Amino acid sequence: MADIGVNIELAKVFLEQGKLVAIPTETVYGLAANALNDRAVLNIFEVKNRPSFDPLIIHTDSIDKVVKFVTRIPEKAEQLAQRFWPGPLTLLLPKSQVVSDLVTSGLDQVAVRIPSHPLTLKLLSQLDFPLAAPSANPFGYISPTTANHVAEQLGNKIPYILNGGECGVGIESTIIGFADEQPVVYRLGGLALEDIERVIGAVRFTAHSSSNPKAPGMLKSHYAPRKPFFLNTRGNIPTEANGLTHYLLFDQFLEGVDVRVQRLLSPDGDLKEAAHNLFSYLRELDSLPGNKIWAELVPDRDLGRAINDRLRRAAAIGE
Ligand code: TXA
Ligand code: MG
Repeated sequence: MADIGVNIELAKVFLEQGKLVAIPTETVYGLAANALNDRAVLNIFEVKNRPSFDPLIIHTDSIDKVVKFVTRIPEKAEQLAQRFWPGPLTLLLPKSQVVSDLVTSGLDQVAVRIPSHPLTLKLLSQLDFPLAAPSANPFGYISPTTANHVAEQLGNKIPYILNGGECGVGIESTIIGFADEQPVVYRLGGLALEDIERVIGAVRFTAHSSSNPKAPGMLKSHYAPRKPFFLNTRGNIPTEANGLTHYLLFDQFLEGVDVRVQRLLSPDGDLKEAAHNLFSYLRELDSLPGNKIWAELVPDRDLGRAINDRLRRAAAIGE
């Protein structure tokens, strides 16, 4: 079983040996390896059971280091980096030769981000290589937001989990690329589009799917619990007061249903709090005795857009 602790020195030793270490970030936990070591990178795909056509994000701790992994940074990307890094933003940039095709699944762009978590930033500052890190969950399952979530599913496959507590944001980074200098959002995430647009103006949003060659890994069915999972708009959730149906709701309990089978993402109607709770509540409901989960969509603004994106993917099993 993986050790769980806060020993950055130990994490560093494992990573230098080409081993995998789970790392905390402000979004979700990552399954990290030396991004410049092909064998270590291959190991990530194996441990996660992830198809090799789904590329990885590389993580580092300064814009000076990012410059080595890319050939160009468009002006709007630079503005976003200055404003939001460290933070829940991933930029797709033309890759330099330093970055292996394994990391990018053969694409000519590499995804990079500077995560905002004190332990991981300290670790990154002590490494002389960047870390490739997808979310630390088996492919297709709900992303982990605590060290225990990682241990439950990958604990027997990796030597160490760096414990940074609960992830603050709770939902993966927003991914932005550039087509002819113009920003395109490929994945909604922990940085709201409203915040991005305040800095660089209007952005285009491409609904990503497995048929989108730019982002081959952004599969429709994802983040999925094991139980049957159903989704509807607020006010349109059927009440099945049988004790076996669980509910993931935004800010109000369903009447006539035992509150013990219900979870509110944010009783105050706060979308940040809802994002923070989303994956851990989904996991909890998936592990309780019961046979299905009903969830309701949240208001479609700010982080609500990313929450709804994840809920829709969770409900897309088999599509
Ligand atoms: O918040 C996050 O982004 C977390 C933490 C650990 O940093 N990481 C994360 O990684 O969510 P992952 O691998 O679960 O999701 C990354 C997504 C994938 O859907 C992948 O297809 C896309 O980023 N991606 C990575 N590199 C890409 C590239 N070169 N071109 C297009 N899409 C890319
Ligand atoms: Mg993931």
